[in-house]
Amino acid sequence: MILKEKDKLLVGKFLKEIPAFRNLSDKRVEQIINDFTICTFHAGETVFYQTDKSTDMYIILAGKVKVSLLSEEGDEFVLTELNQGDFFGEISLIDGNPRSASVIAEEDSTFAVLERTRFLDAIKEDPEIAIDLLKSLVQRLRNATEREESLAFLAVHQRLVKLFIKLIKDEGKKTKNGFYLIKKRTHKEIAERIGASRESISKVIKRLVSGNLITENGELFLLSPDLFKDIDELTD
Ligand code: CMP
Repeated sequence: MILKEKDKLLVGKFLKEIPAFRNLSDKRVEQIINDFTICTFHAGETVFYQTDKSTDMYIILAGKVKVSLLSEEGDEFVLTELNQGDFFGEISLIDGNPRSASVIAEEDSTFAVLERTRFLDAIKEDPEIAIDLLKSLVQRLRNATEREESLAFLAVHQRLVKLFIKLIKDEGKKTKNGFYLIKKRTHKEIAERIGASRESISKVIKRLVSGNLITENGELFLLSPDLFKDIDELTD
């Protein structure tokens, strides 16, 4: 779908926030905006599968996606979740090879889509774009290395605590008595986020619940500060 005026404004706003485009002049942004198209996906729909041969890059104008590895048996390992203003698809865009992961809409989502050839033209005209994109890629590589470190060296309990810390930072609320509230996830969803089996997550959570470190409260998890004692990251 070709961009309407209001979509152009939205794409321009987010382009300014993406490192690869942040330093472009207003005139250049205006030119690039015209190279984008818009597409929408419903919650649960797959934007593309790992190994697909598409090479477009996507910016999330609204909604949320997960970037996942899916096994033939139907197991899923969630690499990351991306929100409004984030981009994805840059790996195939750069090397022209099949997708490195599947991307699935977690909410109804709208994307601005840029074709590979258009992006390569933009880089030729503005090599700064490539340098800034490299910075984003390096940051993703660092995040991936950190995850590998967790998988290699941390037990399921520690990985779970690490995930809780991330969720508290992303969405958590602190209660007056120092507990943390985050949205409840199923054991399967947690397992997919930290590369553990659902059974091992159920076992660890059962232990934490009976130790009063986690309370399942309707749609929420209430997390005791004792779960994070000796961890500096949550001290404010
Ligand atoms: P691409 O390989 O084109 O399609 C899948 C996209 O998922 C990929 O580009 C990146 O945008 C994104 N992606 C793949 N692996 C990771 C990761 N480990 N962390 C964050 N994003 C990723």
